[in-house]
Amino acid sequence: MSILTRRRLLRRAALSATATAATNAGLAAATAAGGVLAGCDGPHDPEGAATPAAGLRFPPGFGWGAATSAYQIEGAAKEDGRGESIWDTFSRTPGRTRNGDTGDVAADHYHRYAEDLDLMRELGLRSYRFSISWPRVQADGTGAPNQRGLDFYRRLVDGLHERGIAPMATLFHWDLPQALQDAGGWESREVAYRFADYADIVFGALGDRVPVWLTINEPKTVVQNGYLSGHHAPGHRDPQAAYLVAHHLQLAHGLAVRALRDGGGTGRIGPAFNLHPCYPADDSPGAAEATRLHDGYENRLYLDSALTGRYPDDVLADLGPDSRMVRGIRDGDLGVISAPVDLVAVQYYTPIYVTADGTTVRRWPTSEADWQQIHPDGMYDILTRVTRDYGPVPLTVTENGLPTPDTLAADGTVDDAGRIRFLRDHLAAAHRALAAGVPLEGFHVWSLLDNFEWAEGYDQRWGLVYVDYPTQRRVPKRSAHWYREVIAAGGL
Ligand code: FCB
Repeated sequence: MSILTRRRLLRRAALSATATAATNAGLAAATAAGGVLAGCDGPHDPEGAATPAAGLRFPPGFGWGAATSAYQIEGAAKEDGRGESIWDTFSRTPGRTRNGDTGDVAADHYHRYAEDLDLMRELGLRSYRFSISWPRVQADGTGAPNQRGLDFYRRLVDGLHERGIAPMATLFHWDLPQALQDAGGWESREVAYRFADYADIVFGALGDRVPVWLTINEPKTVVQNGYLSGHHAPGHRDPQAAYLVAHHLQLAHGLAVRALRDGGGTGRIGPAFNLHPCYPADDSPGAAEATRLHDGYENRLYLDSALTGRYPDDVLADLGPDSRMVRGIRDGDLGVISAPVDLVAVQYYTPIYVTADGTTVRRWPTSEADWQQIHPDGMYDILTRVTRDYGPVPLTVTENGLPTPDTLAADGTVDDAGRIRFLRDHLAAAHRALAAGVPLEGFHVWSLLDNFEWAEGYDQRWGLVYVDYPTQRRVPKRSAHWYREVIAAGGL
């Protein structure tokens, strides 16, 4: 891997969630130059309508939902036989998270899940996406399952069914058992096989009650934040390792799909990718070229391998034949990785604008999460692009949301008007994608509850429901009331 590539990869990592801000100077320059913003493969109208018309109806049966993940909400870090995860280690390491926050208690969902299920019912959710904590099921990531861990998820899943809500379970949302990290983590090919064993256990225990499975949450974030920038667990900064990890995460995905099929599972299964539409920051040929490669690393590395059985040539060439990733690909791997899936889960938060030298600039207002630019048209662009490039595989949006500076007012309300505007505009863009023929099945707001936002700790609030951490009281925000009405009406 060339030094240039290495620098570029580190720069790319800096763009990822919660990392350093992209340069505003670059944005100003791009804007002042009146740069034409073209999509990855087509012109893009920067003034494109983000304001929805009223009366947008979604199809009957649309999967109105909300999402969470285990480490971010459960707490109960040491209960009922749960083992340590890399996020326990990372968050307890001084200087790694804001205020030294950890997920030890989080939103205490492990104990309050029944109350949270009732909140979901009050919202009228049709679908709830949660994740299963691997170290709750296998404390060390291998061997016999921990029945008490499985029982918790059984209670959760049964509680969802009792309330008429469809469970959607993610098998891995970043909380790798620490013992597996000690054995090499995702740099070790073995871990992909351990993941398939774990998946098999979970399918056996819950397969009759979970209609939709997602394998790995955002492999790209593990690669970029965990192994390039190092601001997520396990906190490494090693581009060579990063892309080997990408391959093993993809392999783990494929092995889990195979485990479900081999076990005769009736549920549907697919990957969960955070996709960033990439646009040139100006109309120079250099920017177009740099954008193409950037898109390769952001999107095609994962989409192409899972859906077409090939890694993108431009990314492989850029990494180089001697890179650990390229050397780590074995015969047959891509066949495993591209095992047919039933759906693709799309998580959309932000677009990316790329200059000729491969740096990124901002084009739209950001949020409290400085890696996020608010651009609802990006939702339309990414959904239509997946359908155009990969065919009519069903899609579901499994994350979309905004952190806002929410406070509990004296009258007991939380007014998060910004979140309502954001969700309304993104839902309108998703509706346009539907109208354009995208087989979109559902939309899950990130997140149901305020929670532990990784390196940002509890400072950022992403929930529809406010969590008053000292008391663990839940208060549905204005956006929750708004979303309930949207669901009841079947649209905006
Ligand atoms: C996504 C993660 C999710 C949450 C949101 C804000 O990348 O999957 O856990 O952190 O970002």
